[in-house]
Amino acid sequence: MSDHQSTVSANKSASKTAIDRRFSIAPMMDWSDRHCRYFWRLLTQQSLLYTEMITTGALIHGDVARHLAFDNSEHPIAVQLGGNNANDLASCAKLCEQRGYDEVNLNVGCPSDRVKSGAFGACLMNQPQVVADGIKAMRDAVDIPVTIKCRIGVDDNDSYESLCHFVSLNAEAGCEVFIIHARKAWLSGLSPKQNREVPPLDYPRVYQLKKDFPNLNIILNGGLKTIVDCQKALEQLDGVMIGREAYQNPSMLHDVDSAIYNIHSKEFASTLDVANRFAGYMDSQLIKGVRLNHMTRHLLGLFNGQPGARVYRRHLSENANKAGAGVDVFMDALDKLNLTR
Ligand SMILES: Cc1cc2nc3c(=O)[nH]c(=O)nc-3n(C[C@H](O)[C@H](O)[C@H](O)COP(=O)(O)O)c2cc1C
Repeated sequence: MSDHQSTVSANKSASKTAIDRRFSIAPMMDWSDRHCRYFWRLLTQQSLLYTEMITTGALIHGDVARHLAFDNSEHPIAVQLGGNNANDLASCAKLCEQRGYDEVNLNVGCPSDRVKSGAFGACLMNQPQVVADGIKAMRDAVDIPVTIKCRIGVDDNDSYESLCHFVSLNAEAGCEVFIIHARKAWLSGLSPKQNREVPPLDYPRVYQLKKDFPNLNIILNGGLKTIVDCQKALEQLDGVMIGREAYQNPSMLHDVDSAIYNIHSKEFASTLDVANRFAGYMDSQLIKGVRLNHMTRHLLGLFNGQPGARVYRRHLSENANKAGAGVDVFMDALDKLNLTR
């Protein structure tokens, strides 16, 4: 398999923007919205952030400004698209580039029924040529990197050879970065949640992929929980992507810049500093009509394991959703922690 990379198309030179992909935070529907990403960016200035998946249909027929809104501080930021039509993907990628995104990523890993009935997401692993046509169309339309997030297989289409064929064809179409969720997806019988838990993780398969495609960026996703897990994977791979742990235990992100990038920023010395800064952001959003709990929900896990964390969570859960709830609700919740401000 080692000479696959030599076939990578020269139709565009390597991407202009150099993105450090050592650590990224996964696209997560309903979770990685712009408020959450703003919060994550306070915890880590270096990580690459991904939006929730946005379908091509939503962009073509919907409110582009709303779907693609992000704050400048979120850079580097990648947008994830869901779709299968090359022309639609190309025009949506163009919109994303015009709005200032640093990367466009194609979802080839989501197994939900909604996505399956639209014939995109994980089921596209069965149609590598359709994906390659989409990748090529996007590559031709934009200068930012076009990347893929996929599984190691779907249903019975789960051999290593089949994965290599998928990667090879899409590398040829111009994709230089593959984020591999290291478990297969079952398209029938398992819910999306089960599809993140039941099929076993197979990291050796991803390591092997890097050996066989040394010139591609291979990023590992799935089941990573700690900085040490990430450092271990980075010994063999180009990057790691963390999803659930970043959301449920966001304080782990506070160590990423120093441990992964060796950058020691003094800006937010503690997670409490981050919370106080986020309170200022909340104020600015409340004025625009955003509800408090749409922001505080992303910070419920910030103080996990610290004294008072449970009372902090309960205070937010009970009060942040009330009509007219203001930032004082959040400040009161912080007071429950008995931390020094
Ligand atoms: C709530 C939730 C929503 C998700 N939405 C997306 C999505 O929009 N696009 C995508 O590619 N993956 C999505 N995923 C999958 C994650 O990106 C990731 O691949 C998966 O959670 C495995 O990584 P982890 O073990 O670090 O969580 C979602 C996961 C969760 C928990």
